Amino acid sequence: MKKPTKVTLTFDNDLAPIELPILSGKLGPDVIDIRNLGKHGIFTYDPGFLSTASCSSAITFIDGDEGLLYYRGYPIEQLAQHCDFMEVSYLLIHGELPNSDQKKSFTETITKHTMVHDQMTNLFRGFRRDAHPMAVMVGVIGSMSAFYHDAMDIRDSDSREMLAYRLIAKVPTVAAWSYKYNMGQPFMYPRNNFNYAENFMHMMFANPCEDYTPNPILAKALDRILILHADHEQNASTSTVRLAGSSGANPFACIAAGIASLWGPAHGGANEAVLKMLEEIGDISNIGKFIERAKDKSDSFRLMGFGHRVYKNIDPRATMMRQTCHEVLEELGLGDDPLFKVAMELERIALEDEYFISKRLYPNVDFYSGIVLRAMGVPTNMFTAIFALARTVGWAAQWNEMISDPEAKIGRPRQLYTGEIRRAFVTLDKR
Ligand code: CMC
Repeated sequence: MKKPTKVTLTFDNDLAPIELPILSGKLGPDVIDIRNLGKHGIFTYDPGFLSTASCSSAITFIDGDEGLLYYRGYPIEQLAQHCDFMEVSYLLIHGELPNSDQKKSFTETITKHTMVHDQMTNLFRGFRRDAHPMAVMVGVIGSMSAFYHDAMDIRDSDSREMLAYRLIAKVPTVAAWSYKYNMGQPFMYPRNNFNYAENFMHMMFANPCEDYTPNPILAKALDRILILHADHEQNASTSTVRLAGSSGANPFACIAAGIASLWGPAHGGANEAVLKMLEEIGDISNIGKFIERAKDKSDSFRLMGFGHRVYKNIDPRATMMRQTCHEVLEELGLGDDPLFKVAMELERIALEDEYFISKRLYPNVDFYSGIVLRAMGVPTNMFTAIFALARTVGWAAQWNEMISDPEAKIGRPRQLYTGEIRRAFVTLDKR
């Protein structure tokens, strides 16, 4: 059947019909172009953007029904198997995979920008010791807008490139230091002889009194977590970065807004919520009760790490992460850990249960990434911070794409007003 190219909106009164063009992307569903609808005094209603494309983008593509995820056209499985996080970062930012010279130069630039302004250490000390790392990251990354003024020329492509490099390089340092501050341990400065994932492990787990050598299997697992979380179309945090940036706001402040959005349990906070849930379940014998609760409409409990707004098939990132999960558990000899046993049994039961099958609720990437991070010794409250450092690459690429897009406009959704209609003011003495 021929694809439609326009649609006519008709009304059940005297209003003249409105013809709207239909736009086709290179992949994915066509979209009705409603940009001119407002000129007719007509608006659409779509809470949560369930049916709305907020921008055009050439970075990431998801087919939720088929369970596909592409970065710049490359399937995520191939990138996760054959690339490291630096290559994937280059790809997301520049649109092409680097050749070996480009990779070397990019990696060197990132490595040399990992230190933060020394004055920033004072900022950490202003937080309570028990501050959640995501709260610290929102504050400290936002404060980078005060440290790097030259990033303010957002119309200049070189400035935007430098901004992306600074973010990719410094966010791990901020994330690791938010943990060190929690622990009351000295901040560990970055080490240029380590790769990106190893350096992060060094800043998290090393201390000045001993030598530290990152375990290569765990460093590879962390690198894979970073690749799998690097970008994911117009999710809540990416849309937040774009919306904040659409006013021309300072990009570091926009990324801080993205971190705030990512923190929620329905988004990046899910991997932390998975671990809390597994601890609450505690033992295989309790799984049945929790499955029943998840199915009970009158109970707000949901199985954390299951389901996805877009994937109605297996999340390809979950398939890759599951493999890494087993490799890490084997490396660390943790196959008999009671919590991991609960996780594996929960996965088995949910995949066979009619409720989860009929609603197409599969384990998502965060179900497995939480388990891997715990096995590596990462505390639960750092899980989302690690997600944030991976997603920073995607946010930087998406922000850059938005600023360069001649069709981009300041984001300004409309509303369906349901409040009081105009009423007479009553003075304080009469209320
Ligand atoms: N456990 C039990 N029931 C569920 C679950 C779950 N985890 N997820 C969805 N449902 C049910 C839900 O009750 C609803 O049932 P009904 O049709 O009878 O009302 C149906 O499935 C559809 O749910 P929905 O909330 O309309 O779906 P959504 O697309 O708006 O929500 C979601 C997606 C991810 C917020 C949701 O599946 C969820 O809350 N999952 C648990 C949290 C989680 O793991 N989040 C991480 C997402 S992946 C990370 C990322 O990409 O940011």
